[in-house]
Amino acid sequence: MLRDVMKIDLRSARRPVAELPAQLRVVGVVSGRLTDAGEALDAALGGVLKAAVKRSKFRGQEGEHLLLWHGEGYLLLLGLGGRRGVNPDRVRRAAARVAREAIRLGVREVAVENFWADRLGRETASYALAEGLHLGSYRFVKYRSDAKVPRVRYWIARGRGRAVAEATALAGATLYARDLVNEPPNRMTPERLAEEARALAETHGFEVEVLGPEQIEALGMGAFLAVARGSANPPRLIHLVYRPAKSRRRVALVGKGLCFDTGGYSLKPTEGMQHMKADMAGAAAVLGVFRALAELQPAVEVHGVIAAAENKISGTAYVVDEVVRAMNGKTIEVKNTDAEGRLTLADALVYAGRQAPDAVVSIATLTGSAVVALGRKIAALFATDPRLGEALARAADREGEKVWPMPLEESYRKLLKSEVADIANVGTRQGGAIQAALFLTEFVREPYAHLDIAGPAFQPEEWEEGPAGATGFGVRTLARWLAE
Ligand code: BES
Ligand code: MN
Ligand code: ZN
Repeated sequence: MLRDVMKIDLRSARRPVAELPAQLRVVGVVSGRLTDAGEALDAALGGVLKAAVKRSKFRGQEGEHLLLWHGEGYLLLLGLGGRRGVNPDRVRRAAARVAREAIRLGVREVAVENFWADRLGRETASYALAEGLHLGSYRFVKYRSDAKVPRVRYWIARGRGRAVAEATALAGATLYARDLVNEPPNRMTPERLAEEARALAETHGFEVEVLGPEQIEALGMGAFLAVARGSANPPRLIHLVYRPAKSRRRVALVGKGLCFDTGGYSLKPTEGMQHMKADMAGAAAVLGVFRALAELQPAVEVHGVIAAAENKISGTAYVVDEVVRAMNGKTIEVKNTDAEGRLTLADALVYAGRQAPDAVVSIATLTGSAVVALGRKIAALFATDPRLGEALARAADREGEKVWPMPLEESYRKLLKSEVADIANVGTRQGGAIQAALFLTEFVREPYAHLDIAGPAFQPEEWEEGPAGATGFGVRTLARWLAE
């Protein structure tokens, strides 16, 4: 099983920063003044911090910092911004900045003030701080021969152990999902995804079933099979089950698992094909959630369903004008082979429905249209059941993952009409994310929500919570939702 390439050791300490051993000590500055923890450290060091703040131009704006050397180690004054609008997101971002600085300096032991604990409470503050430290420490360097991977130990001064442990579980699951997505597509094949699911099941005691092409065909998954037909690497239908001793409800999570999306014969241009290894980010998020479930142990039965395949070109690849039949009997006219995600999801959703769930949630890098609408930071959230949608939005908010509700506009359904089949796999360009979501609803009967993560699953450049590449978006939202 893949491991986090860079794993930090994170502990909460009862003592304040001033009393902790470290090569790097970090305290906050708020509107030009040291925090209480900063004051205490300053007193212990004979006033060097106050003098630095006074004489420099540094006033503690968010995103700024001032680095000093004193005695045996570094002192980092971190700008925390003003007192207005303090929230866990700001703590998470500040923590990720600390992690970046620690890596840059190459230190092995760091003591950090529990930022904004006075405003948010020690519990909430250490939760966000711990998440930010983990997320900001992530690097994907396994294929770089020049990589140095320092192991860093962090002490969260006056932190809460329980909050740190829970944050570590969710962040660890997120970094695992990042690893899966960052893995190049010549390695992360459908069978390799299945291996990851088997390894998770083995380690944590989940049930797992993996189906190959013959079994997928026997189930009548004609839409999924059509997408997979052109690839040398055969498809896998992956079904994981977390079954607790006592459960209040049953939920199915369905993740889009396109290990690579060339577009098929509706071929993507070079530019648009870049990063399409990340088209299995929904599947990776589902696997990440299972890793978190092992630690959170919620009283919910969870089924994870992934239709893993590649969308490639060959003599056997599917073409436009084909009519395929999904597992629920509905026929689909293929008008664009690049709208492959919804075809694989159609069958995965029907399969998920056969598990008799109380609710179904899909997560998928489904449309460029969602990226155009909401950009690279925000996922589009669709729900046939408002309460389900609201619960997911609340969970996302608590984890600092941004989602925005989108309408399932009924009058757009006719755009998916086909002359030759029950439905077409594409409609018009405008409102493309909505039409994709409407298409999916044709294959679900249960209360249903769908997250289009085409934007936030992958960052082309370094961002607030990590380096360029996979983000692990959705893991924490879904895990938090299941844990509540
Ligand atoms: N995997 C893509 C969507 C995507 C685009 C993900 C950009 C991440 C970044 C999906 O399979 C796709 O190609 N969608 C098409 C649908 C269209 C043909 C209706 C799209 O969005 O262009
Ligand atoms: Mn596509
Ligand atoms: Zn795709």
